[in-house]
Amino acid sequence: MWLVVFAVQAFWLSLGTALSGQEPLKSLEEARGYNPGEPIPVSCLNRTIDTGEHITDAAGQLQYIPFPTCNETGRPLELFFGVEKEVNCTIDFVTDEFFHLLEFYIHSDAPLSCRIPSKPLPPSVLENEYRVSDQLTQEGALGTQSTLYTPLIIALAGTLQLSHLHVGNYLNLLVHAAPKSQSPGTVDAATAYSIASHTRNTKITIGDPLPLSFSCGGQRGGLRRVF
Ligand SMILES: *[C@@H]1O[C@H](CO)[C@@H](O)[C@H](O)[C@H]1NC(C)=O
Ligand SMILES: *[C@@H]1O[C@H](CO)[C@@H](O)[C@H](O)[C@H]1NC(C)=O
Ligand SMILES: *[C@@H]1O[C@H](CO)[C@@H](O)[C@H](O)[C@H]1NC(C)=O
Repeated sequence: MWLVVFAVQAFWLSLGTALSGQEPLKSLEEARGYNPGEPIPVSCLNRTIDTGEHITDAAGQLQYIPFPTCNETGRPLELFFGVEKEVNCTIDFVTDEFFHLLEFYIHSDAPLSCRIPSKPLPPSVLENEYRVSDQLTQEGALGTQSTLYTPLIIALAGTLQLSHLHVGNYLNLLVHAAPKSQSPGTVDAATAYSIASHTRNTKITIGDPLPLSFSCGGQRGGLRRVF
């Protein structure tokens, strides 16, 4: 049993080495675009719970970690390219750490800064599914600007009370796609924000579940005029 696991692991390790050795990361232009409905993994900046400051890894790069696991899927939050739908993500158990981070987000002391790959990531980056704190994909100060990713700030609204929080847990999530003629299947911009948080919110204390409901939609091309 162990031998099998070991052999499989060795195989994947050697495959990983082979891939990273022979196939350097393609630039964003060269990579293929998303197919309609293809999942898009969401990862977010890790932050310290005492100050809400971002955490860097050993290489000095910002540390992005997977969005918390959704009870509905058993996986971190995923969006679906080009699909308008509601995506529910219930975080089963709000830990002490996560509760403190929620306080920062709701008080706007720190943003819930996430990011999504602008095009599907090559397997060498996704080897650990969401391990996105890698040097190859980072540029700029602390690796904030990566051409492979599009920022997704989740503006959670709510109110802080002494012992609990009200979190505006119904969110609008917009993903802009580049014009098909220019760059098919490419994410250009993304944002998310709580809707009507005064009336649509959930009361949270440590240990509670946090049911998030994302109303996902898209937009192709540039600026949108609503009025
Ligand atoms: C986020 O940072 C904290 C503090 O350094 C660390 O304990 C935790 O393991 C990190 N989270 C992940 C998923 O790596
Ligand atoms: C998401 O959750 C809401 C509230 O619980 C529920 O009304 C809705 O049917 C759910 N949607 C999906 C797609 O599961
Ligand atoms: C999450 O899933 C587990 C296992 O299926 C279940 O026991 C738990 O009640 C679920 N939590 C919520 C908040 O739905």
